[in-house]
Amino acid sequence: MISQKTIDKIFSTIRVEEIIGEYVQLKRAGSNFKGLSPFHEEKTPSFVVSPSKQIWKDFSSGKGGTAITFLMEIEGFTYPEALRHAAKKYGIEIEEDQVEYSEEQKKAQSEREILYKIHEVANTFFQENLWETEEGKTIALSYFKERELHDDIIKKFQLGYSPEKKNAFTEYALEKGYEKEILEKSGISIFPENSPNGIDRFRERVIFPIHSFSGRVLGFGARILKSNVKTAKYLNSPETEIYHKSNVLYGLNQSKQAISRENLCLLVEGYMDVISLHQSGIENVVASSGTALTTEQIKLIKRLTENVTILFDGDAAGIKASFRSIDMLLSEGMNIRVVLFPDGDDPDSFARKNPRDFVEDFIKNQAKDFIDFKAEILLKEANNDPIKKAEAIRDIVKSIGFVSNALKQEVYLKQVSTQFGLSEQSLFNELGVQKQVVQQQKPAEKRETNVVKLEKVQEFTETVNPLLVLEEKLVELMLKFGQFKLYGKTLQNEKYETTVIEEIINHLDEDQYQPISPLNQRIIEEIKSGIQQNELRSSDFFKTFMDEEVVTKTADALINAHETSNWEKHNIYFSKEEELVDKIVKDVIIRHKRELVVKIINDLKHQISEENSAETYQKIITLTKLKNKIDENLFRIL
Ligand code: CTP
Ligand code: MN
Repeated sequence: MISQKTIDKIFSTIRVEEIIGEYVQLKRAGSNFKGLSPFHEEKTPSFVVSPSKQIWKDFSSGKGGTAITFLMEIEGFTYPEALRHAAKKYGIEIEEDQVEYSEEQKKAQSEREILYKIHEVANTFFQENLWETEEGKTIALSYFKERELHDDIIKKFQLGYSPEKKNAFTEYALEKGYEKEILEKSGISIFPENSPNGIDRFRERVIFPIHSFSGRVLGFGARILKSNVKTAKYLNSPETEIYHKSNVLYGLNQSKQAISRENLCLLVEGYMDVISLHQSGIENVVASSGTALTTEQIKLIKRLTENVTILFDGDAAGIKASFRSIDMLLSEGMNIRVVLFPDGDDPDSFARKNPRDFVEDFIKNQAKDFIDFKAEILLKEANNDPIKKAEAIRDIVKSIGFVSNALKQEVYLKQVSTQFGLSEQSLFNELGVQKQVVQQQKPAEKRETNVVKLEKVQEFTETVNPLLVLEEKLVELMLKFGQFKLYGKTLQNEKYETTVIEEIINHLDEDQYQPISPLNQRIIEEIKSGIQQNELRSSDFFKTFMDEEVVTKTADALINAHETSNWEKHNIYFSKEEELVDKIVKDVIIRHKRELVVKIINDLKHQISEENSAETYQKIITLTKLKNKIDENLFRIL
């Protein structure tokens, strides 16, 4: 854990305009800087950086935050990764908290560190064997040349060679002082009973190192050179303490920036597909490495983009695999397209045969959405047999069932309805049946109870909940002006001094208000526990919070609140906030109170029953009087 002291040091040293300046060309615009959004194609700059507030806001995508969240967005770093990256840039030494690790945890931690180190050593060893030994040059390098790989791309992917000698690496590592036990755990060496000196797992193979998101070597893939030997074409590292296949995508480290820039991730099957596409200049590509795509892998992609194009060889196995991947991707909320390559070609061979532009155009033009893709394959199979055709449509609707966004779901169903001349209602019914089937397969406690109520979304009218709008405003005021001093008067007309945070929290507590939005709830909880520790938690606190949503919200509150919130649209207008903090806070509190009363009245109206009617009416009358009183009050203020 990075110590809080170091985190504070990092935040007080780094400059948001310098860090962003490495990725975006920034121009002065008044007290701010402006540039083109790195997250969206755009012609007019809508990306704003504020040196005085040390935050950024991208009006085209709605994202915003600190220098650290910017690094998280653009590099796909985790919070600690981004902190370390920034610390390195500014020469800040990282101090780790020496707390609360048990002996066991410490041992596991240091074991992982040694495993990383061994992989680094092995990676260098394999590369040296490729480039600097006779055996490597004549056997392995010439193999890569046969596959038309250029030196720079071989180096970019750190390809290597594990020599023929039975224990070349194991011997080298033992000599360097690594112990048998840990070498075995790394999966690179094997120690069978009859070979006490160990055996290299990957001997006489070319090596493809597998990197983590941030570039550490986690494991290896190794390909045999001779084509007709009766052993597996590829051997891969087994699962280890540091290599979990289901969490890794081959090529992600080399491709992450292009994926983010293009806002699209190409998904292929193999190591060579990734490498060949890179060589031809197409760099937004990763491979699932022959295994079925996992949810964790999709989440890795989702850090960079929500758009995936699957590139598959046109063989039957490839198609089956793509169907499974489609449903997985859909249920993670991704937008997918699919490209099938002509029979006999995979992305590797296709990229080598054709020039870059042609490959790019092919991918762009051949990409079908998943409905067209599945329809084409399944209907060809059905061959006009009506029963099979119905099954095919059911299969497509099943995929649509995985789409979690109701709006998208409707769009897809419309498409199927037009395409096959079926009524939308019957497709909706089919979808309902499918959903129930999925639900039945889940354990009882996980079933959703409302699935049968599949109603068509007729219109999309934006409904505004005034209570929520005011709740947002209260939180925004606490973030923006939390420590501002206010003066209040008690009922006895005594003056007292307070702050924006205390005033608002008091108001919320008084009514035991439950925030509507979970994000606001989180922020309010934090502010409350701050008060208990005599601390006023405002934007400075939340800017460095380890929660992207919170940081974005803080940036929103700080930068051009009028542009980001939609107050004026709802006729709640405030002029020159800074000068009027006192008035605004009181005004918003009272409006919020009013809306809360209205909500309680409405809830009561719904609860009226024969037994409680007298009592409930009484409550409604009292509350309505209160509401009217507030209205009078508001009228006076205005
Ligand atoms: N794979 C594997 N083990 C195998 C076969 C395949 O791990 N025995 C994985 C590899 O990651 C490989 C991917 O599945 O890259 C795709 O397999 P395939 O299409 O057979 O390999 P290619 O990448 O086309 O390999 P090459 O072109 O080198 O034959
Ligand atoms: Mn191939």
